Amino acid sequence: MQRRTLIADEHDAKASWADEGPRVIVDAQGRRFRNLRLSLTAACNYACTYCVPNGRRLQAAVAELSAAQMAQAVALLIEAAGIEKLRITGGEPLLSPKFDELLPAVMALPLADVSITTNGQLLVRKADLIVGAGVRRINLSLDTLDAEAFRAIARGGDLATVLQGVERMLAAGLKVKINMVPMRRSNSQQILPMLEYCFARGIELRFIELMKMGHLRNGNQFVQEFFGMDEILALIGQHYEYARTDAPWDSTAVRFEVPGKGAFGVIANESEPFCSTCTRLRLSSNGWLYGCLSNARRHDMRPVLGLPRAQALARLRQLLTRALGDKQSLGFRGEVTVMKFIGG
Ligand code: 5AD
Repeated sequence: MQRRTLIADEHDAKASWADEGPRVIVDAQGRRFRNLRLSLTAACNYACTYCVPNGRRLQAAVAELSAAQMAQAVALLIEAAGIEKLRITGGEPLLSPKFDELLPAVMALPLADVSITTNGQLLVRKADLIVGAGVRRINLSLDTLDAEAFRAIARGGDLATVLQGVERMLAAGLKVKINMVPMRRSNSQQILPMLEYCFARGIELRFIELMKMGHLRNGNQFVQEFFGMDEILALIGQHYEYARTDAPWDSTAVRFEVPGKGAFGVIANESEPFCSTCTRLRLSSNGWLYGCLSNARRHDMRPVLGLPRAQALARLRQLLTRALGDKQSLGFRGEVTVMKFIGG
């Protein structure tokens, strides 16, 4: 596939595109869609305290797209939006029976990168498939190395099984990142043990500041549990020397290096919002496009899938223009519904 060439500086709001190749939609802030997050299923085998309020696991959405429809959707989005990177997410993507068919299908598409975000519970079981398909990066959600705290936060699964999955991925040479959501009461005391575990294995740990998603938007759980970048850094600074380092311009993480040890990142949704460089587009398991995690507006892609290619692309460009308009200009405001079934 022909790669697009951006003429202007990527930070320049007046960015325009070279005439060769398909046109890509760019907004007034110079943002375009580059990264697609595809939720394979809304179902999850955990019921994390920050995700669901009642301890009940999420179920698959009604009328989820098939693996073939999802692969078709991704192919169309590559053409219409200039998607270069794909992340397979959920719910929990490895739980979906569609995973085995979808993964090789998207690996065959012209993408610079395909990665998976998983809670790791089924990683050992799916390892051969993942490695065999040629996946090179995996993001694992893990909030603690303490088995009891793990059960209290995830309310499902088993810590030892996740850690076996991590070792299996490392042994196969995949680049592993671990996402941890630090919470004052539940796991902030795990920040250093997690960092040491990751340093010892060449894993980049990323602290995701708790976001006001779903039930956290109202009530005091968010206020009680929020443990932001300043506090994370203060804690780490008591034990390590760290220095801020470069991150790609559209990265969501603020990155730090600890000389001789490794790097870690903070996804500082609250402390240092990154809306102005956001290039993410999300497709839910039942076919809705979301331009912004902080905006419930969504655009139905399902009707597009039945159209002949040229019509599909034209219609899709209309939807994408609207979805790009859904992005926030400043910071994350909080949204009731989105994260748990479209996977961050
Ligand atoms: N705030 C911060 N991170 C969250 N995640 C899920 N819900 C929230 C929230 N409210 C994280 C998961 C996973 C990633 C996809 O998003 O832990 O690592």
